[in-house]
Amino acid sequence: MQINNYSLDKESKKIKNEILNNISKVIDHNKYINGPENSILERKLSSILKSKNCILTSSGTDALLISLIAIGIKEGDEIITSPFTFISTIEVILSMKAKPILIDIDPETYNIDINKINNYITKKTRAIIPVSLFGQPANLKLLKKNIKKNKGIKIIEDNAQSLMSKHHGQYSNYFTDISCTSFFPTKVLGCYGDGGAIFTDNKILSDKIKKIRSHGSINKKNYDIQGVSGRMDTLQSAIILTKLKYLKKNLSNRSKIATKYNKIIDKINSLSDKDLIKKPKILDFNQSVYAQYTIQTENRNKLKKFLKSHNISTAIYYDKIVSNYSYYKNKCRFKDLKNASKISKQVLSLPINDYQTSKETKYVCDVMYSFFEKN
Ligand SMILES: Cc1ncc(COP(=O)(O)O)c(C=O)c1O
Repeated sequence: MQINNYSLDKESKKIKNEILNNISKVIDHNKYINGPENSILERKLSSILKSKNCILTSSGTDALLISLIAIGIKEGDEIITSPFTFISTIEVILSMKAKPILIDIDPETYNIDINKINNYITKKTRAIIPVSLFGQPANLKLLKKNIKKNKGIKIIEDNAQSLMSKHHGQYSNYFTDISCTSFFPTKVLGCYGDGGAIFTDNKILSDKIKKIRSHGSINKKNYDIQGVSGRMDTLQSAIILTKLKYLKKNLSNRSKIATKYNKIIDKINSLSDKDLIKKPKILDFNQSVYAQYTIQTENRNKLKKFLKSHNISTAIYYDKIVSNYSYYKNKCRFKDLKNASKISKQVLSLPINDYQTSKETKYVCDVMYSFFEKN
């Protein structure tokens, strides 16, 4: 049996005809840019996520970049974020010539440690980008409360990995000024190329974002702000609209797989006096979409090799924290990133995907158990 991290191969077998049908409709009307599927998708996502505005973008990275342009980030501004993230969270800050201020992560959830943020706020702080990692929102409600007095600081959530997750019973965008997501093919809701979206309840920001996304103009008559080429293709919207129908079922499958992994980990931990594996810690007020099921173990590299020898693919997000890349080290400011450094050497993401069967999950569980029984 071969178990992969992702299930795009299985997906294409199951829904290819439906996808082709919707692609064909776009080819028929040939409105490849700003086509009707884009407006339908923006309306649907706004309604599902209870956000007043949804603006589709060319990628998750561009969603972040456009948001930073929209809030008026200038050279030398400081933006607080996590070192335990995909590089684009930091890349966009540098693109704006702003300074990334990296703060250590919470050792339980791997999201930015909100309680440390206030110590790093200066007169130059203009934004905080909490990354909602692996499917679980960062502690956004607490963050919002903690920075309430600092009216000039905006919260821009990097929600590339946690679309549809919940925090205190609400979708995470409820707690942020702006929330950015990604439709990269392997995300919880993926398209067949690059795509992303911005969610905001702020009408002024939303109008500005729409302009920036489209070279600084919505009507091609007046260009009064510098923008980017940041639209999402109509074809990608047609694909996402098709996949949206299966989203609930897919999320429920991910949750079932996570429950099975939790059970086997409890069993593995009962083999020893100390915990051999740390399960993902989902806070009581959070609901994860399990974009990843990430465990932590001192035996990470050996376990990864063993799983691979049994045809089980795993992934490491992230084996290096951002400040460990020589290019980024001197461009970011940070002090103590002890938790992130340690965790990056111990995390392993197990296969979890939309079309993973119970039989496949059981196989992963059995192989993992046999590894810890022997070691
Ligand atoms: C945390 C995080 N931020 C940003 C991005 C960027 O999204 P995209 O690949 O759509 O540009 C990703 C996705 O890869 C991500 O995981």
